[in-house]
Amino acid sequence: MEEKPQQLMDIEMLNLAMEAFNSAATNLQTSYDALKEEARRLREEVEEKNTELSYFSNLLESVLNNTPSAILVVDETQEIAVKNSAADALLSDIGERALKDMLASSFGQGIFDYAAEGGRYYRINAGELRSEGLNGAVYVVDEITILKKFEQEKQRGIQLQMMGEMAANIAHEIRNPLGSIELFASLLERDLKNNPSAVKMTSNIVQAVRTMNGIISNTLLFTKEINAEKREFVLSDIVDEVILYLQPLLKEKDVTLLNRLDENHSVLCERGLFYQVVMNILHNAIDAVPHIGGTVEIVSEKSDISPHTLSLSIMDNGGGIPQTMRNKLFLPFQTTKTKGAGLGLSIAYKIIKAHGGDIIADSDGATYTKFTVIL
Ligand SMILES: Nc1ncnc2c1ncn2[C@@H]1O[C@H](COP(=O)(O)OP(=O)(O)OP(=O)(O)O)[C@@H](O)[C@H]1O
Ligand SMILES: [Mg+2]
Repeated sequence: MEEKPQQLMDIEMLNLAMEAFNSAATNLQTSYDALKEEARRLREEVEEKNTELSYFSNLLESVLNNTPSAILVVDETQEIAVKNSAADALLSDIGERALKDMLASSFGQGIFDYAAEGGRYYRINAGELRSEGLNGAVYVVDEITILKKFEQEKQRGIQLQMMGEMAANIAHEIRNPLGSIELFASLLERDLKNNPSAVKMTSNIVQAVRTMNGIISNTLLFTKEINAEKREFVLSDIVDEVILYLQPLLKEKDVTLLNRLDENHSVLCERGLFYQVVMNILHNAIDAVPHIGGTVEIVSEKSDISPHTLSLSIMDNGGGIPQTMRNKLFLPFQTTKTKGAGLGLSIAYKIIKAHGGDIIADSDGATYTKFTVIL
């Protein structure tokens, strides 16, 4: 075999080297392109993560700043490290000293109520916070002044209810001896009829006892739930009994009583309750009339359209219902009288409503008042 000349061999070697170089260069270009692509992908991923992070960070900030609760993070030196808008408002409201005082009072973890100056109350929910670079506590603070007032009112309500029950028991017990006093004073009045000054005194006792009895009856009815057990009664029988009971008062004021009741009219009611309604309205009428020329007129009517509907009107020529009382006549404890409890009409209303009826007041505020009970 003929050997290749040296020069030819060198050229071939050079070609081979060039090929190897070209292939290495192509590989390098491919790797570089892949690396560039990877870098671009990573950059995109970082951007995506950054967008996501900023979205969540904005969301968190907006949630924090839009919650009505004040949220505060305190570091180990008791300095406030983070706070939301509600906490800013709280801080400017009560001042830094009071706020730190409030947080310190919660001693770490749990739920605590704090009474601030000016009668305001706050509820603090405290929890430990251990996070990277922060060893402290997180506090959620809410103003609970209204809630606290409700709690106090509820407590007061319970106490009042207990007092009411006790008062009702006492009132009930007072009634019996009161009945005896009234009976003995009436007997005494009869025995002493020849001694006018003694009669006057005994009649005063009877009247005072009856007034007391009226107050007790209204108080008892006020505390009690009313359920009317209705039966039919002759209306004039009940009204006559009330008139008899109020005789001392009528006599003392020399009231002219015009009794225009129809004796055929009957009323479907619970007798004792209806008696109290008539008593309260008639008592008010006697209170209202002047000492001279006082007139009270009592009228009953049956409706032509609805024959089962009965109306009982009690009209007086007193000074009328004062303007201040117009809108609250039937509310309890509303009175213009020095010795009034303001219970009479509210009880009457409660009773008549329990019977499914109504009471209407009519007055010109100067010369007359008329109460009509419709059953
Ligand atoms: N016939 C009336 N004429 C004028 N005002 C009246 C009449 N009836 C009631 N009023 C007014 O309505 C108020 C409330 O009456 P209500 O009977 O509820 O209470 P009171 O009479 O003041 O006290 P209580 O009945 O508990 O002794 C009275 O204080 C009075 O101002
Ligand atoms: Mg009254």
